[in-house]
Amino acid sequence: MGENNNTSKTNINWYPGHMTKAVRMMEENIKLVDMVIEIIDARAPLSSRNPDIDKLALNKYRLVLMNKSDMSDKGENDKWIKYFEDKGIKCILVNSRSGQGVKNLDKTIKEICKEKIERDRKRGILKRSIKCMIVGIPNVGKSTFINSLSGKAKAATGNKPGVTKGKQWINVKNEFELLDTPGILWPKIEDEKTGVILALIGSVKDDILPFEELAYHLIGILKVKYPGLLNEKFGIDESKDPHIILEDYSKIRNLIKSGSELDISRGAKMLTDDFRSNKLGLLTLDIIPE
Ligand code: G4P
Repeated sequence: MGENNNTSKTNINWYPGHMTKAVRMMEENIKLVDMVIEIIDARAPLSSRNPDIDKLALNKYRLVLMNKSDMSDKGENDKWIKYFEDKGIKCILVNSRSGQGVKNLDKTIKEICKEKIERDRKRGILKRSIKCMIVGIPNVGKSTFINSLSGKAKAATGNKPGVTKGKQWINVKNEFELLDTPGILWPKIEDEKTGVILALIGSVKDDILPFEELAYHLIGILKVKYPGLLNEKFGIDESKDPHIILEDYSKIRNLIKSGSELDISRGAKMLTDDFRSNKLGLLTLDIIPE
């Protein structure tokens, strides 16, 4: 794990310096807990996770929360749950903004940790709560989830390592305790597509993104995963090259620069925003591995 994890051709700084400290803190904190609750983005259940968590959370109880499930493809959500459960990891859908899926979490956690609870019970320990920690890559909704669970107005935000001086535990229904500082995992970008998907879901700061490149990739992904969608929404002929499709989209959106030239770069940003604001529908970009 180095400072420079940049393997994408789009030359984005995926691993800013402050993350090194955050990751080290996460590795320290993980030692304190019984259970690791990993938050991923339901629109990109593969790209938004760092599989190194399997090593980092070795011998810990595990739960995956597919957050932002209000924005993902409903038909795909269940298939992804099965994908994780086939790997032996319990996975549930949540919407941290509305609190959906958050309420009954204590039951799920008790079920996952039932062996430990039973072991403690046999040793006469009845009141020891389960210690949990939230982990995930930036922007998947860790702070929002912690706020939703604890009912607090604002949890320590994940992007500011060191914001909490001492360790703070949030007691949830006397059943489990949650470390109030989430652990930040670094995005694992092994191919350009993963980088692109992470940028599309908003895991990377916008001011440094090459939106035209992103839009071409998005068009490519949509043509494969949601054929007919661009035609249905905008009347676009999808058989054309992504560059032509982006031009057609910019025309349809009436994006003209001074002097009647098409404003492709605004078109690219607008198409990305259409995806992010679900104007293209509820979509999941990753493809379930065979
Ligand atoms: P992080 O700690 O993992 O870095 O993520 P954070 O909670 O800061 O959330 C990142 C963005 O995702 C926030 O939006 C947050 O509101 C949004 N979000 C979190 N969970 C959900 C969810 O389940 N559904 C939806 N639709 N959005 C979610 P933001 O625009 O950056 O901030 P704000 O407008 O909410 O202030």
